[in-house]
Amino acid sequence: MTSIQRIGILTSGGDCPGLNAVIRAVVKCANRRGWDVIGIPYSTDGFMQVADGQYDPEHLLLTDHGYDIPGILQGLDVLQFLSGTILGSLSKSRFDGPDQVSKILAGYEKLNLDALIAIGGDGSLDIIYDLAQRGGWNLIGIPKTIDNDVPFTEKSIGFNTAVQTVNSALYDLTFTAASHDRVMVVEVMGRDAGHLALHGGIAGGADVILIPELVPNLSPLVITQICQHIADLRQRGRKFALVVVAEGVHGEDGKPQHLIGEALATAIADRSRTLCQTGDTAYCDMDRVETRAMVLGHIQRSGIPTASDRLLASAFGRKAVDLIAEGRYNRLVVWEAGRVRSKDLSDVIATVRECHLRGICPSPVETDSTMVKVARSLGIYVGDPDTLPDPKAVMQEVAAIAQPSY
Ligand code: F6P
Repeated sequence: MTSIQRIGILTSGGDCPGLNAVIRAVVKCANRRGWDVIGIPYSTDGFMQVADGQYDPEHLLLTDHGYDIPGILQGLDVLQFLSGTILGSLSKSRFDGPDQVSKILAGYEKLNLDALIAIGGDGSLDIIYDLAQRGGWNLIGIPKTIDNDVPFTEKSIGFNTAVQTVNSALYDLTFTAASHDRVMVVEVMGRDAGHLALHGGIAGGADVILIPELVPNLSPLVITQICQHIADLRQRGRKFALVVVAEGVHGEDGKPQHLIGEALATAIADRSRTLCQTGDTAYCDMDRVETRAMVLGHIQRSGIPTASDRLLASAFGRKAVDLIAEGRYNRLVVWEAGRVRSKDLSDVIATVRECHLRGICPSPVETDSTMVKVARSLGIYVGDPDTLPDPKAVMQEVAAIAQPSY
């Protein structure tokens, strides 16, 4: 086993709360072993700039004591409370040709790194993994994403804070919705996964939660069932409703739709009036249903990282450093059944690539998961299992692809 002197760390893909807490944990654990940690600015861009001579590698050294705002913030311990990333990130790779790949590899060589820790989501880890294969890098991945859709890990950095943000938004919207007897439709991020909408929606007291795994698109039947659910609430004296829709739910035509929340709000208002016109007494006051839509947007990627995310960040950072100390490379740090473990990164990336090729989410909400059952038991409308197409087939497809080796 080679003795470690210097490791690199970078953040890649969209930011999320908790990244600085991971950086802090890695720096602390590595420094205690006597290793230097080099922070790569803006992910792969940083390597290109190093290759171009724009950075003196010694200036990229991360220590526990930098980043002081005089008199207020002292070192990385305080920075762990801030979201974003002190290293900067890239949400899309800015390299395409072989020249840029060579430059990235040259930048890596110039830094004299014994190993690299990349904090990323499925897409960005795929890119870094590819570079690592070409350059023979000793790579460790740490999963981060508010979407919680990295395969083989139950938790990713940032998800818990984003759930808290959705929960807080629903709490805040409850009072204005109640004051005007309105149906508030909240569009939540998550790409093609429904984890964030489902967890945030349950925690925040949503009456309806639509996620792509259970309600792939806004079919006329789904809209009618939502209106029936709202009518039922109104009959029982609850005049307002909170509706959460994941951005990955498609429009009526089955195609991705920009501002799906807005489309849903309009559809609910229109169908409510139609139902009222049927003369059925169950829908007698549905002509009064007023809807408003909001897109929660990038606020879900910000906010003070929750204690839970900072704990995960600490545990993941420590594990990444331990793996390097053990000489176990090409691993993804994961959370599994209450423990931090690691999985072969090649298996993870193979799963991601195969799922993306087939246009399916690599780590969807399981349709019979505990939280889906909880939602149904609480009387939250999450789609009708009897009348909707069974998306379990997708889970089976993912399960057939995803065969982790330890
Ligand atoms: O993957 C994280 C995420 O926030 C998704 O939930 C969202 O669809 C996407 O990134 C937004 O990306 P961007 O910041 O590039 O618009």
